[in-house]
Amino acid sequence: MERNTTTISREDIARQMDYCHAVAQLNAQRPQPPLAFVDTYGCQQNEADSERIRGYLQEMGYGFTQDEEQADVIVINTCAIREHAEQRVLGNLGALVHVKRRHPGQLICLCGCMAQEAHVAQKVKESYRHVDLVFGPQVLWRFPEFIHSLLTARGRVFQTPDLPGSIAEGIPVVRQDKVKAWVSIMYGCNNFCSYCIVPYVRGRERSRQPEDILSEVRQLVEEGYKDITLLGQNVNSYGKDLENPMDFADLLSQVNDIPGDFLIRFMTSHPKDATQKLFETMARCEKVAPVLHLPFQAGNDRILKVMNRRHTREQYLEKIRALKALIPDIVLTSDVIVGFPGETTEEFEDTLKVLEEVRYDALFTFIYSPRVGTPAAKMDDPMPREEKLRNFNRLVALQDQISEEKHAAYIGKTVRCLIDGQGDDAEYPFTARTPGNRLVRVKGGTADDVGQFREIHITGANKWSLYGEMTEK
Ligand code: SAH
Ligand code: SF4
Ligand code: F3S
Repeated sequence: MERNTTTISREDIARQMDYCHAVAQLNAQRPQPPLAFVDTYGCQQNEADSERIRGYLQEMGYGFTQDEEQADVIVINTCAIREHAEQRVLGNLGALVHVKRRHPGQLICLCGCMAQEAHVAQKVKESYRHVDLVFGPQVLWRFPEFIHSLLTARGRVFQTPDLPGSIAEGIPVVRQDKVKAWVSIMYGCNNFCSYCIVPYVRGRERSRQPEDILSEVRQLVEEGYKDITLLGQNVNSYGKDLENPMDFADLLSQVNDIPGDFLIRFMTSHPKDATQKLFETMARCEKVAPVLHLPFQAGNDRILKVMNRRHTREQYLEKIRALKALIPDIVLTSDVIVGFPGETTEEFEDTLKVLEEVRYDALFTFIYSPRVGTPAAKMDDPMPREEKLRNFNRLVALQDQISEEKHAAYIGKTVRCLIDGQGDDAEYPFTARTPGNRLVRVKGGTADDVGQFREIHITGANKWSLYGEMTEK
């Protein structure tokens, strides 16, 4: 198959680095080094993008702050998945008008999925005149050029071209964490689930070359990272667009072969593309964490069909059974939408049946939110909000009960966990993650344990987390 993905050339990235250095020279003339604030909404994909924005900003001579009053540049990396996420961004963006009045030279930039929506860019152009730069995910690699233009020419910059998207290697990265790292393996989505905005704002599915992914993971392991998550909207279709096609299971095996003591996670998997080969690879690869996030969205076949998910409830459950047969202690999580247009309460109850059979460790639950331009937004949606809320609360109550029971089953066990940080609980000062990514609050240990695997004896649990004690060094 011919590869139809545009790859941004090394020369193009080198030109962006030249813009970085030109901006750094301008910044060097300031009395104090300038500061940037990068505020991220949405999924890990956006977190990973923000690490690249920070990488570029560092090359441009910016330090970092979390305080918008201190910032010379503010970058808001947005999410468009539900209306609530958008309202929060617009509220915060509106409030920045006062901050900017106190700091006239401040640059305010809006990027990410929401910025890519035509009606949002238009609204910002007309009604948020304090915003200097709006750019979409497809042109993130040109961020230095945009900042250079703002600093050297007059006028605002709007760059949200409707492109299928590209692959850009060699953008600098400033990571937020020293223990856990995100590695994007692909971008975009081709699935067009009828409720979802992602394919419209993130472009078509495109895979990074395996050697680029492997060398990034190798470097992270050398730097001491212990928990690496391979990212994509649908990692199970990785590689289909490569010149030498390979599948996600093969990539996972190759990442597993990298020497070192680290865990491999991945998300998100689409049920229609989750194969027996993937499950066997997970079972065989000792570094691949025993956890799968496999969203099913709804338990009713009619709803799944109008959602354009391209699988039935039974096909989904068959896959879960096959996986449990191979990895009996697999930790399972999922996303669920309640109140899809036309879903009746009876149809919603099929969703509860899936929970009862699968018994997820955790669930991410959402009330359907119409997104401009998606097919579902034009569908009849007669159910009153109160009824959707009632159904939503039933779903949460059932999952809370299951999570609590699943967590209680850990009590008395000793589990090898990754100590990943310090929490705010005085009695249990450290936080850790089980291989299945359940949160553990930990007693004992010292700051030196952060970033290390330790045996934790689990002594307590509730529906949100586990409690434990460090048993050895
Ligand atoms: N690529 C992933 C999901 C990314 S979005 C996948 O296919 O599973 C994360 C979750 O947000 C989705 O799984 C879905 O449950 C939810 N979601 C997406 N669009 C939504 C909408 N319009 N309203 C409510 N929830 C939505
Ligand atoms: Fe959205 Fe579906 Fe793509 Fe996930 S697979 S990002 S839900 S369109
Ligand atoms: Fe949101 Fe974009 Fe991720 S819409 S969920 S930030 S891909």
